[in-house]
Amino acid sequence: MENRTISKAVISRLPRYYRYLGELLELGVERISSNELSIRMKVTASQIRQDLNNFGGFGQQGYGYNVKYLYTEIGKILGLDRQHPLIIIGAGNLGQAIANYANFEKRGFIIKGMFDINPRLIGLVIRGIEIRGVDDLEQFIQENHVQMAALTIPKTKAPEIAERLVNAGIKAIWNFAHVDLNVPEDVVVENVHLSESLMKLSYRLCSMQDEENGKE
Ligand code: NAI
Repeated sequence: MENRTISKAVISRLPRYYRYLGELLELGVERISSNELSIRMKVTASQIRQDLNNFGGFGQQGYGYNVKYLYTEIGKILGLDRQHPLIIIGAGNLGQAIANYANFEKRGFIIKGMFDINPRLIGLVIRGIEIRGVDDLEQFIQENHVQMAALTIPKTKAPEIAERLVNAGIKAIWNFAHVDLNVPEDVVVENVHLSESLMKLSYRLCSMQDEENGKE
């Protein structure tokens, strides 16, 4: 594979390609043309060709794409061929929901530990994962070589905990707290805000309704 910089826009579309290709594999589909994939994914065939050409040589004229090969290569690009030990900070509703979702493990995200400050939660076990006190955070991260952490704590607490995580060696933060984190350049943050997604949905619903009302 060519080693060149891939745009963020392309990277952001890869998980969707990965999901569709995984579904095709489950259906026993061995190869697919960009046109067929385009119909399934509701993306233009030229977008698909452009995106996938970034990685060179996946498709062949007249043959289409080898589904298994493409799935595996995209998986490698996304780092899904490696295991990522992960910890969750904040073992409330959201933290527990994430811990209870077993499918992350299939993708290589192994939840190693959960942390909280609430004494009533500390010591509980969620799907085999013990909730620990945050005092153990640094030692746990170092002993278990953890580089990835999910932050599911209130936004007022998130910056302080993020700093501790980074100092302890965390390199990737999956941030659910509603605050932008300031981290060094060698640390990556992926913000997940369900409410923002819901606001976009609301916008689209309202635009559609306004358009319909305008037509009357
Ligand atoms: P929750 O109150 O059930 O859980 C929060 C947990 O964090 C509690 O168990 C609390 O003891 C713990 N905590 C507080 N300070 C801590 C600290 N310094 N270190 C470790 N643990 C600490 O709340 P829920 O519903 O689980 O939400 C968690 C956070 O995620 C909230 O800030 C909420 O606003 C946010 N959230 C974000 C969503 C998103 O899409 N980004 C969706 C839902 C919630």
